Amino acid sequence: MDWSKWIRQLHRWLSIIFTVTVIANFIAMALGEPPTWVVYSPLLPLFLLLFSGLYMFVLPHAARWRGEPARERAGPA
Ligand code: HEM
Repeated sequence: MDWSKWIRQLHRWLSIIFTVTVIANFIAMALGEPPTWVVYSPLLPLFLLLFSGLYMFVLPHAARWRGEPARERAGPA
């Protein structure tokens, strides 16, 4: 599988996990004082989102630095 496609897929799934942990925080806070591990649970996915996101951000620039011609964004498949 293409490396950049794999990173994009990872970013997509991390965003879902991150969103779930944020929602879990709202629910836990509504029920009272949330446990520390719930409060900090969004940080790991957010951290990984940052790196996979920065990687995707740099991709088109990196291609230009390598002297590759500009191309359309890769679609599905
Ligand atoms: C933390 C720093 C983040 C950076 C630097 C970042 C960066 C990026 C970049 C560069 C793209 C590709 C855009 C393109 O198609 O050209 C992207 C896509 C995306 N990002 Fe992030 N992102 C971050 C965090 C997040 C968060 C917090 C969420 C949601 C909770 C998120 C959800 C998504 C989704 C759903 C896509 C589309 C992926 C796909 O193609 O299916 N990102 N992001």
